[in-house]
Amino acid sequence: MNETIATILKRRSVRAYRPDPVEKTDIDLMLRAARHAPSAMNQQPWHFTVIRNPKLLRKLEKHCLNAFLESTNEALREIAKQEGFSVFYHAPLMVIISGDPGALAAQYDCTLAMENMMLAATSLGLGSCWANAIMMYHATEKGKAKFRELGVTFPEGYQPYAAAAFGYPATPWPDAPPKKPDCVTFMD
Ligand SMILES: Cc1cc2nc3c(=O)[nH]c(=O)nc-3n(C[C@H](O)[C@H](O)[C@H](O)COP(=O)(O)O)c2cc1C
Repeated sequence: MNETIATILKRRSVRAYRPDPVEKTDIDLMLRAARHAPSAMNQQPWHFTVIRNPKLLRKLEKHCLNAFLESTNEALREIAKQEGFSVFYHAPLMVIISGDPGALAAQYDCTLAMENMMLAATSLGLGSCWANAIMMYHATEKGKAKFRELGVTFPEGYQPYAAAAFGYPATPWPDAPPKKPDCVTFMD
C-alpha cells in the first residue's frame, strides 16, 4: 500500500488531546494542503481562521457547548451534559474555514479543504476532529453575537462551513469504527 492510501486509512476522529501547541511549520503544511483542494471553477472561496490562543479557545469552546445543549437532537444534548465533556476535546488548535456563500459551491469547497487538512495532520502524527458545534452555534443570532464579542470574525459576508480541532493525541490512536458494507454499485 502506498503512503497516501495508508494515511487516508489511518485518519480517525481524535477526541482527547495533549495541551502541547502544534508546530507552526506543521500548521503551514496543513494550510498549504488545504489550499490545494479542488474548488468549483477554482474560485477558492475560502478563508482560514487559525485559533491558537488557549484562553480564546477555552472561551469559544464553553460558548459553543450551548449549540449542543440547546439542540433539538436529544443525543447531542445528552453528550453535552456528560461530566467533563468538551466540544473541542481541549484541543490546542482550532481551524475554521469560512466561505463566500455567493460562490458556486462554497460548502463543498471548504469541506474538501478541511479533509485535506485532516489528512495532512494525520501524516504529521496529529489528530483531528470535525467540530460541528462551531457551525451550529454561529448559525444562531446569539452565537453570531458571541463570535463577534470574542473577536472571532470572518471576511465580510463569509460564513463558517468547516471547523476542526487539531493536536497531539492524548490517548492511543483510535481504531477505525465499523464501516458500512454494501454501499457500492459497479456498473461495468
Ligand atoms: C459533518 C460532520 C460533522 C461531525 N461533527 C462532529 C462533532 O461535532 N463532534 C465529533 O466529535 N465528531 C464529529 N464528526 C466526526 C464523526 O463522528 C466521525 O467522522 C465518524 O464517527 C467516523 O469516525 P472517524 O472519523 O474516526 O472515521 C463529524 C463528522 C462530519 C463529517
